[in-house]
Amino acid sequence: MYIPWLLITQILMLCGNSEAKIPAIIVFGDSSVDAGNNNQIPTIARSNFEPYGRDFLGGQPTGRFSNGRIPTDFISQAVGLKPTVPAYLDPAYSISDFALGVSFASAGSGYDNATSDVLSVIPLWKELEYYKDYQRKLRAFLGEQKAHETVTEALYVMSLGTNDFLENYYTLRDRRSQFTVDQYQDFLIGIAGTFITNLYGLGARKISLGGLPPMGCLPLERATNFANGNECVESYNIVAMSFNDKLRGLVMKLNRELAGIKLVLSNPYYVLLHIIRKPAFYGFDMTAMGCCSTGMFEMGYTCNQYNPLTCTDANKFVFWDAFHPTEKTNKIISDHMVKTALFKFL
Ligand SMILES: *[C@@H]1O[C@H](CO)[C@@H](O)[C@H](O)[C@H]1NC(C)=O
Repeated sequence: MYIPWLLITQILMLCGNSEAKIPAIIVFGDSSVDAGNNNQIPTIARSNFEPYGRDFLGGQPTGRFSNGRIPTDFISQAVGLKPTVPAYLDPAYSISDFALGVSFASAGSGYDNATSDVLSVIPLWKELEYYKDYQRKLRAFLGEQKAHETVTEALYVMSLGTNDFLENYYTLRDRRSQFTVDQYQDFLIGIAGTFITNLYGLGARKISLGGLPPMGCLPLERATNFANGNECVESYNIVAMSFNDKLRGLVMKLNRELAGIKLVLSNPYYVLLHIIRKPAFYGFDMTAMGCCSTGMFEMGYTCNQYNPLTCTDANKFVFWDAFHPTEKTNKIISDHMVKTALFKFL
């Protein structure tokens, strides 16, 4: 029987495609997923010094805000890619690395331009400009067709929003004088919707939108909650939950409107709250304070190698510094997200 050559090559291509379902992971967001972009820009939102990274591969600080790996590193590994996702601005990496995974995230950033302005970090719109630049490099490196395949089949991960509330809305006056919290949430949802639509326009199809954590339980917020015995700030948790509901609405709407998109909500809220409420279940001793220094206020430059109080075993702590989870917590949250949301892409 005669089988046309064209058909054979098509069959071979289909097989190739189904083997490597996710050719790359592409990340946008804040310190939850910044792998070191901020090292390359003038900002104080940094963590490329000890003791950050002390449990990272090779024990070196990278600019990740944790003692080890961050969620997107674990997710990358879980989908069959590299165990770490490099930062786009890191000169130690090039397009041959970024073709498999890249982070455009910037610690201190948010949906709102006014949030990234607070610490002069990379605003979300600029993360997307870097992504366009990346696409050009990818086409030059892989060729049109292969690059198109990577862009279409890649897993896109967005993780941000906490700073819009904690660093901006509840800390500075501007946004609070312009918006009620409900209106501010809608303003951010609008930005998220535009961003995802633009990303879709650039070819992305598989997108994970990250929900907010129980942000009232971050050690920094607890430390300032004297009135209530340093409990979680309930009002912030309620805002996080209602924002996540709005994100869920956005996900449903865009899945209806944008043909071929597969958008999922990856919600860290309940799993992190469970870890905080039942730490012993996961082998943690300490949940209210971070490992670094006093664990109540320090992060970035205030969490450094001169703090005598820093804990010795970060695996006993839910949080690494006053704002960011330990590697162990990041792993639990990532596994949960893969099981509950990202499995749809595998
Ligand atoms: C944020 O700033 C960029 C660049 O100036 C601008 O294009 C964009 O419209 C701004 N976003 C919002 C929501 O105002």
